[in-house]
Amino acid sequence: MDFYEAIRCRRSVRSFKPDPVPEKSLNRILEAARCAPSSLNLQPWKFVVVKDPQTRHAIVSHCPGHDYAQEAPVLIVACGLPTEGKIAGNTCSTVADVATAFAHFSLAAMAEGLGTCWISAFDAPPIKQILGVPDPVQVVIISPLGCPTDETVRPKHRKPMSEVVSWEKFA
Ligand SMILES: Cc1cc2nc3c(=O)[nH]c(=O)nc-3n(C[C@H](O)[C@H](O)[C@H](O)COP(=O)(O)O)c2cc1C
Repeated sequence: MDFYEAIRCRRSVRSFKPDPVPEKSLNRILEAARCAPSSLNLQPWKFVVVKDPQTRHAIVSHCPGHDYAQEAPVLIVACGLPTEGKIAGNTCSTVADVATAFAHFSLAAMAEGLGTCWISAFDAPPIKQILGVPDPVQVVIISPLGCPTDETVRPKHRKPMSEVVSWEKFA
């Protein structure tokens, strides 16, 4: 799939077939995330790949309103490590770094014909306990990964270019 087509077709998927994710696809998607840029190239991330149905069920039970995530055969828990990386001199870069890696992840998934959905509504402490995530590490994103039940490409609802881009000055 062409890069721009992957961008055009990617959407948040909230309904999955039970079909397994091919190992080769999973490895290519994880490799895409691994190659993402990060502040000072510190790569402050760890992607926990969860396939075990009981563990997935336990995690999703702490993601209110996201029961559909259990339908997918793989759950990705993207964790952010403490880092010296900074944005604009003071803001810690962890969340931005993990988000950037997840952008790679979700577009690569699209290129493989697979769907993802960034879930940020979760109760982190029990999820950290289930996965053994140590305290300084933050769970940033949870996402199902699997075959979408509906592959229809719909138009994106986005602000017009004139509203999100200005030239030479902020306007
Ligand atoms: C920072 C961030 C947090 C998000 N959190 C959630 C979430 O908790 N639950 C959810 O269903 N979607 C979540 N999303 C997905 C957005 O709702 C979705 O990307 C947006 O509506 C655009 O739709 P699209 O991804 O289908 O293009 C999140 C996306 C981002 C970037």
